[in-house]
Amino acid sequence: MTIITKCAAGLAVLVLGAGLAAADARPDPMSALAGRPAGSDPLDPMTAIRAKADTGDKGAGNEELGGLPDGVGAEETFYQCVACHSAEIIKQQRVTDHRWNELWTWMVEAQGMVEPDEETKEIILTYLKQNFSSER
Ligand code: HEC
Repeated sequence: MTIITKCAAGLAVLVLGAGLAAADARPDPMSALAGRPAGSDPLDPMTAIRAKADTGDKGAGNEELGGLPDGVGAEETFYQCVACHSAEIIKQQRVTDHRWNELWTWMVEAQGMVEPDEETKEIILTYLKQNFSSER
């Protein structure tokens, strides 16, 4: 009787283990769609392929400014933000205008960013919202 019980328990562990391993190996079907443009048809098999090209940054940007796209505020943004991290972390964002305000506050309060004067702050936030927003 005890032998049978032990066997059953061992089998259960085996089956469970195999189940977990199988779950690990299964590819996540959503990963292929990550980064797809908003509004695209997730059932269109071309969506995932196009997504990679569509969500890249707008051209190479200005090499001297860490690849930030040229425009009013590009230089100010570079000197304000790239003291601590690369421009990549900015270029990969597509967030709402509101979120940019929050990120600014977070950078000041949690990361110790020294705030520039009010005018420069506006120039930088406008630049960020113009170039890295999900709203336009
Ligand atoms: C004083 C240093 C400092 C400055 C200056 C700074 N940052 Fe950051 N920032 C950080 C650190 C540190 C992190 C990473 C925090 C983490 O992931 O734990 C970060 C992360 C970020 C992120 C990623 C947030 C996320 O969701 O993971 C963005 C976007 C960002 N910074 C934008 C900016 C912008 C825009 C500026 C200029 C206005 C700026 N940062 C200036 C320190 C700084």
